[in-house]
Amino acid sequence: MNQKVTKAIFPVAGLGTRFLPATKSIPKEIMTLVDRPLIQYAIDEARDAGIEEFIFVTSRGKSALSDYFDDSPVLEAELQRKNKTELLEVLRTTNMESGQIAYVRQAGAKGLGHAVSCARRLVHDEPFAVILPDDVIMSDKPCLAQMMEAHAETGGSMVAAMEVRPEETSSYGILEVDDTASQAMKVRGMVEKPRSEDAPSNLAVIGRYILSPNIMNSLSGLGAGAGGEIQLTDAIAREIDGEGVHAFRFEGQRYDCGSKAGFLQATVAFGLAREDLRDELAGFIADLRLSQSQA
Ligand code: G1P
Repeated sequence: MNQKVTKAIFPVAGLGTRFLPATKSIPKEIMTLVDRPLIQYAIDEARDAGIEEFIFVTSRGKSALSDYFDDSPVLEAELQRKNKTELLEVLRTTNMESGQIAYVRQAGAKGLGHAVSCARRLVHDEPFAVILPDDVIMSDKPCLAQMMEAHAETGGSMVAAMEVRPEETSSYGILEVDDTASQAMKVRGMVEKPRSEDAPSNLAVIGRYILSPNIMNSLSGLGAGAGGEIQLTDAIAREIDGEGVHAFRFEGQRYDCGSKAGFLQATVAFGLAREDLRDELAGFIADLRLSQSQA
């Protein structure tokens, strides 16, 4: 019986320079898709997968994140006074119980592997999940919950995976797997951000992981990898000959909200998925296309 996974790490220390000037004063993770911050999507997905402890690896200038998950008594009292029960409910779904969230700071931008290792004392010797909030996945069953089910069978470590365009391999961790047809594929090799000519495939790691606690030990002994940073991919690769690593082909549409184009696409997709906005937004897009084709 595999140990239950109840802790998740959210690396949120990045400066978000791709979204300057917006990120000059707000953390990237607070930027909204429709009316919910990116981080809320990540938290909801984790909760749905049975996560009970949420560990944020943050940095200077990210206090808006901890405020976001706190109670907001003044706002709540005002909504109560005005009898805005629906809004009150929405607001309450964002509150986190005291003690459910822990914040650790990452000193210096030393890479994703380093960020994850900052949470080692909170994870101890338990398997844990990692969610990168930039990767937003729209699906019927949330991606991490899909992975938890598969992981209960496989054990070891597991990464979410999808095919990317061959020219994009240098933006991802790239996998070499045995059985490309199955949903949980045994990983034979993985390499961080290879050039397309060096890539073993175009199957990429997407920001959802379920990891063995061994990864924390590997990370502490790891030197800088691709881009001069301590890479999570390198620590996971060490598990291939140990407890094993599986790549999980999830069902759903992934949006790269770390890029402007991806963020815009996600905004449209999540807007169209909302009953209260669908008709107006779809009408607007249709009109826009028409006027552009006539221009
Ligand atoms: C990180 C990981 C990479 C993974 C990617 C998924 O890269 O290092 O292996 O494929 O997330 O989004 P980053 O996007 O932080 O450069």
